[in-house]
Amino acid sequence: MNIIKVKDTEMGGKEAFKLMKADIENGAKVLGLATGSSPITLYNEMTSSDLDFSNMTSVNLDEYVGLKPDNEQSYHYFMKEHLFSKKPFKNSYVPDGSNPDAEAATKAYDKIIEENPIDLQILGIGRNGHIGFNEPGSPLDGTTRKVGLTESTIEANTRFFEDEKDVPRFAYSMGIGSIMKAKKIILLAYGEAKADAIAATVDGPVTEDCPASALQNHPDVTLIIDEAAASKL
Ligand code: GLP
Repeated sequence: MNIIKVKDTEMGGKEAFKLMKADIENGAKVLGLATGSSPITLYNEMTSSDLDFSNMTSVNLDEYVGLKPDNEQSYHYFMKEHLFSKKPFKNSYVPDGSNPDAEAATKAYDKIIEENPIDLQILGIGRNGHIGFNEPGSPLDGTTRKVGLTESTIEANTRFFEDEKDVPRFAYSMGIGSIMKAKKIILLAYGEAKADAIAATVDGPVTEDCPASALQNHPDVTLIIDEAAASKL
């Protein structure tokens, strides 16, 4: 794994953007995108750049089950607000959280991923090492699934909702196996709350207990992290 240490989230966004830009100049056409606070400075770099994404495709990692795209807490809405309203892509895919039929929703998403192989995948990481919404215990070779969120993830996400009981308990998430098929991966992590997860990702055994540890088996992963997130390495 390559590790780039940065001073703060602003610098992290700039470093990630540099790598993304080079990849696009080298022909990348499909970006795997993530939600959460960690990629926001990268999305700011993208929207303020002169890059044109209108002939590119984006494929997002996950979506809450039960939220419609116009729900302000949905990941559809997040992506529109932070990126797509300012820099439209030719096609942008996010799992359909409004489809209660998990089998149909996840199969449809796997087909989308298969038809749009990801050149560059952007990832954040949960405090417990989850990537996408692949919580500890997720199969390291999994495809898109309906997943139950852990208490720690529900608690971490409560800040985005008025009440903890409003936080959805389930999500549709791209699996770790699908994430591992991306040609390149950039993982962004900032702050002390991520230090244990980063240590387990980099130095720990490859285990379902820390889903991001699977990335040790990927040939082209770059971690962009600040000092606090790197403090237990
Ligand atoms: C959620 C998302 C993940 C994200 C994680 C960390 O659980 N499903 O994709 O990586 O939050 O979010 P943040 O970057 O806000 O710490």
